Amino acid sequence: MNTDYQPDGQRYERMSYRRCGRSGLMLPALSLGLWQNFGSVDNYHTATDMIRYAFDHGITHFDLANNYGPLPGSAEENFGRILRENFCGYRDEMIVSSKAGHEMWAGPYGGNSSRKNLMASIDQSLKRTGLGYFDIFYSHRYDGVTPVEETMQALIDIIRQGKALYVGISKYPPEQARIAYRILAEAHVPCLVSQYRYSMFERTVEEETLALATAVGSGFVAFSPLAQGLLTDKYLNGIPEGSRAARPTGFLQRSQVTPEKIEKARRLNSIALRRGQTLAQMALAWVLKDERVTSVIIGASSVGQLEDNLKALGGLSFTAEELEEIDCILNSAL
Ligand SMILES: NC(=O)c1ccc[n+]([C@@H]2O[C@H](COP(=O)([O-])OP(=O)(O)OC[C@H]3O[C@@H](n4cnc5c(N)ncnc54)[C@H](OP(=O)(O)O)[C@@H]3O)[C@@H](O)[C@H]2O)c1
Repeated sequence: MNTDYQPDGQRYERMSYRRCGRSGLMLPALSLGLWQNFGSVDNYHTATDMIRYAFDHGITHFDLANNYGPLPGSAEENFGRILRENFCGYRDEMIVSSKAGHEMWAGPYGGNSSRKNLMASIDQSLKRTGLGYFDIFYSHRYDGVTPVEETMQALIDIIRQGKALYVGISKYPPEQARIAYRILAEAHVPCLVSQYRYSMFERTVEEETLALATAVGSGFVAFSPLAQGLLTDKYLNGIPEGSRAARPTGFLQRSQVTPEKIEKARRLNSIALRRGQTLAQMALAWVLKDERVTSVIIGASSVGQLEDNLKALGGLSFTAEELEEIDCILNSAL
């Protein structure tokens, strides 16, 4: 099916782009992730509308993984279908990433960072999306067993085979990240990008990881910048029906919506309102204020959320007092 959708001609004026590490590749400050809400259990029309809206606002980078759904694999299938039905002729204006390394298929080869898993996985992902190549292919995690050398050699070979243009790592502990960066650099396949969880509620990368990635010339993309919704105003008055915490999938469990988190969100919300922002907008701006962050990968369950979140780009700067006040809230023991 071909639709009559035409991308908006003003799209690139609505977004700012940042250079990804020491590469020639620019990524949009906001990227869209398809971990949730784009699977076979979700509404295909809403998913299509979100991808169109994102692209119309300059979001050129779409983040996938083999296991995104649910059902696992179905986000890639849906994304491929949405591209075929709406974006014929626009492939060169998009950066599409995928990953392998988490549980995906049965047996001993379906969920680790072995060469066997990565090689099979990229072929499966290309088939599901119908794409000829991925722009970025990631090792989704360090699995604790596979030598980093083996995983990196698989990524290098994936590049040589033309199945991806760039490679990245995700969630690697600093010790393994250092090895990965070295091996990739020696093979002249530098690590384009490092992907880690980073938000006001999860700041571990500030200790070492962010500086390490920057020092080797890798870009840095932050995932779950809204702490899966906790850093929005949605949970301030309980857990709304249909929200991620209310769903049975357990990605954000009810038990994670603690009174302490909600109290912090409430206090952060008053700073956001003073700045003329929603809490979601301030949470995104807070991550993007660090210029070492190339892009934040947001999730969304509606076009309205994307609309809200894109407005963050209008207010990325903070006063020293605001930052101090935010730190004080985040560090407080409630
Ligand atoms: N590398 C990795 O291992 C890894 C791991 C996790 C994620 N990721 C990537 O990062 C992407 C984003 O992760 P995430 O979905 O956890 O990101 P997030 O941006 O922290 O959370 C997104 C969720 O927050 C809620 N939300 C978003 N905007 C809102 C707004 N303006 N107002 C109220 N609620 C709002 C929605 O939840 P509701 O459904 O409740 O509406 C939405 O689905 C993923 O899709 C994936 O691409 C990578």
